[in-house]
Amino acid sequence: MNNKYELIYEGKAKKIFTHDDADKVIIEFKDDATAFNALKKAKFEGKGKLNCLISTRIFELLIQKKIPTHFLELKNDNTMIAQKINIIPLEIVLRNTAYGSLCKQTTIKSGTVLEKPLIDIYLKNDELNDPLITKDRIQLMKIISAKDLEFIIDLTLKINIILKSFFENIKLQLVDFKLEFGFDSKKNILLGDEISPDNCRLWDLNQKNDTIVSLDKDRFRNDLGGLIEAYSEINRRINDFL
Ligand code: TMP
Repeated sequence: MNNKYELIYEGKAKKIFTHDDADKVIIEFKDDATAFNALKKAKFEGKGKLNCLISTRIFELLIQKKIPTHFLELKNDNTMIAQKINIIPLEIVLRNTAYGSLCKQTTIKSGTVLEKPLIDIYLKNDELNDPLITKDRIQLMKIISAKDLEFIIDLTLKINIILKSFFENIKLQLVDFKLEFGFDSKKNILLGDEISPDNCRLWDLNQKNDTIVSLDKDRFRNDLGGLIEAYSEINRRINDFL
């Protein structure tokens, strides 16, 4: 990155830099992958670029459908310009199909298609290992108002309708995903972070039997191999469709 821009924040998968316009930021997608709160780490050459390109396409689709997002424009293959937001320290997970932690923490069987989407909210706090949190605890901690929380949940459900049908068109089952939101300088709530195979579970629907073929970060979490091939396949299907 051009050294006239200052690093504001470095996360596990992205770096955030200042922009000439104080209301904007430059987001650089890294090749690093982490899992289990960074207990497991690796680098995959090309992952940053793929996630940046995939996220760009998805943000553009959501913006077309009137979802407020932080995305402004793609700068180059692994860098985008976004509105500067103050991230709300909550991770909003929406599940269409039971998998992952839901099946570890309940008796619901892996692969069960849920009758309606389930929203699980986690406190974004690495020291506490991102615990599952309740609405009452969110109010108690004064993280956001009950009204803003309802707005975010409603947006997440709308985003699910758009993404589920989009991914079905390219033969992918949207199992679950994680979103983050933030406030811009005018106190509007915008969708932030990224939408990529790092924070969505996507299963290939081009399978003849019921075998689960994960085309997402579970390839790394569960040592399945072929992460870059899976992300490239998602990018290819999106570009062929749009
Ligand atoms: P989980 O089943 O491990 O709770 O994950 C649910 C979804 O959230 C899955 O699509 C992966 C995503 N996720 C993140 O993006 N970041 C995280 O730190 C975790 C735990 C999950």
